[in-house]
Amino acid sequence: MSESSAAVHEVWDPQGAPDAVRSLFDLSGKKALVTGGSMGIGQAAARVLAAAGADVAIVDVEEDLGERVADAIRGLGRDSLFVPCDVSDAEQVEAAIAAVVQRFGRLDIAVNNAGIIRLGTDESLEKDAWDRVIGVNLTGTWLCARAEMRQMIRQQPTEGKIINMGSIAALIAASNGAYDASKAGVVHLTRTLAASWGRYNINVNSISPGYVGTVFGQRRPEDERQRLRSLTPLGHVQRLADLHGPLLFLASRASDYVTGQNIVVDGGHTLSTWVFPPARAVPPRIGPAEEIDA
Ligand SMILES: NC(=O)c1ccc[n+]([C@@H]2O[C@H](COP(=O)([O-])OP(=O)(O)OC[C@H]3O[C@@H](n4cnc5c(N)ncnc54)[C@H](O)[C@@H]3O)[C@@H](O)[C@H]2O)c1
Repeated sequence: MSESSAAVHEVWDPQGAPDAVRSLFDLSGKKALVTGGSMGIGQAAARVLAAAGADVAIVDVEEDLGERVADAIRGLGRDSLFVPCDVSDAEQVEAAIAAVVQRFGRLDIAVNNAGIIRLGTDESLEKDAWDRVIGVNLTGTWLCARAEMRQMIRQQPTEGKIINMGSIAALIAASNGAYDASKAGVVHLTRTLAASWGRYNINVNSISPGYVGTVFGQRRPEDERQRLRSLTPLGHVQRLADLHGPLLFLASRASDYVTGQNIVVDGGHTLSTWVFPPARAVPPRIGPAEEIDA
């Protein structure tokens, strides 16, 4: 029995149960990277992994903000570095993963989160915009996953957790053709890579957030937020904090037997195309005033 399955086995030992369960989510000593970690969802992901014990590298094009996130992580007592990289460029991706491994010695967890959107009607979308969105969101995710996987199979023990950032736009037609197609591609690429790389003990999963209250850094107007609340079964606008648990689950030993899955974190928003949303029975767990990090 491997060390990790022995620890899980202890869950059934009444003496060892609480510690064994808690340790499933412990990332102490793990080495992680987050692309697009300088702000938004990526920054939140980097902080969560660090809070759970991991050393975390920030891989991004935004240097000033990325250095600040790295400083904050070092403030938690973990190691961190900022690595400049445009994820759509194969050479930059290879160099970035090499820089992370040179510092950390290995790579256990990779969150491929860097992404962009080009708003506008599909009728007016220019090919350059299409190419850039697909290049960063889909090709960038593949380039990063490929470089991460090469490192993960070369290290001992051979294993790793790759988490790709999808979107509910992978599931619904949100009228941003390039973005929607890129995210559908990310979710299906995740399945394909999971099927290929399970043999190396590499788990590949994706998370698909709904409409986080900051969309690419911009706070949504109140009338839109109210509409989102009314169309979301769990009744509040999505906060960055709502992604913490799913990220930690997929990054940790708790998800060792989970691969190729897309965890939709949207408060139930995509479950129904309600014409008449049912009235709430009780207030949502999070009230409008508490959607603070959204
Ligand atoms: N915000 C939402 O509502 C939402 C919903 C679903 C999915 N997502 C996805 O979550 C991810 C993060 O979104 P966000 O809202 O935090 O966006 P954001 O704009 O706040 O952050 C994106 C980060 O990616 C970085 N980045 C952009 N292009 C890059 C490139 N070529 N190379 C390296 N880094 C690059 C940016 O500098 C930034 O730090 C994206 O993949 C996005 O599609 C966001």
